[in-house]
Amino acid sequence: QGQSDYQLPLAGRTVTISAGGTREPLDPVRFLGNRSSGKQGVALAVAARNAGATVRLLAAHMDVAPPAGVEVVRVETALQLREAALDAAADSHVVIMSAAVADFRPADVSDTKIKKRDDTADPVITLLRNPDILQELVEQRNAAASASGQLIVGFAAETGDSEGDVLEYAEAKLQRKGCDLLVVNHVGTDKVFGQDSNSVVILSRSGSEPQEASGTKTEVAETIITRISFELNRVSP
Ligand code: CTP
Ligand code: CA
Repeated sequence: QGQSDYQLPLAGRTVTISAGGTREPLDPVRFLGNRSSGKQGVALAVAARNAGATVRLLAAHMDVAPPAGVEVVRVETALQLREAALDAAADSHVVIMSAAVADFRPADVSDTKIKKRDDTADPVITLLRNPDILQELVEQRNAAASASGQLIVGFAAETGDSEGDVLEYAEAKLQRKGCDLLVVNHVGTDKVFGQDSNSVVILSRSGSEPQEASGTKTEVAETIITRISFELNRVSP
């Protein structure tokens, strides 16, 4: 490490970041997926790397290439991401779950291509609930006394509906998941996914005021990483 590294806010820190969208296979050629591009997660990886951190990028499906200078672990499904995340988190100072994780996976995965047939009823896909990785990361952190200073950051994509607005849902999610920070996106079909800009609110479990950040995904990532550095240096200087 060069001497200048010590000036960087995340020097000596290991940051694990999940990015992109998981894909849950139905058969060898088909999957259930989502619209996550991975751009925000990659921007976070770049910002963390530039802040001096050792970065592990857990990359589910992404429309963009992973950046140079970070360790990349490729995953496909939520179950694979769970394993990679729990493993990488064990010695990370920060874990950021920016991946869009499938809430459900097909109960049956066919080894061979599913054929359409005229003599049978239309098929029905049965789904199983995937484990909540973010919640398990919090449990793993809380169970290990040595990692008690670890900072865990979740993302939430919310649309709001007739039962609640975006921030109400996000606040409830923050409490339910038990992570330290929750970065909240307001999503619609034309917003956020695949776009180059983003507008988020950072909620904190310690109860400080919601912090707004907007701009390019690079600018938003820099604001999030700056906030993480601040929280981390406050907890364990
Ligand atoms: N997440 C996770 N494991 C899952 C689902 C989500 O770790 N099985 C993480 C996401 O990476 C994100 C956070 O949890 O950091 C919130 O994801 P979100 O889909 O908004 O929350 P859910 O609890 O799945 O709630 P919802 O019913 O709104 O989808
Ligand atoms: Ca979800």
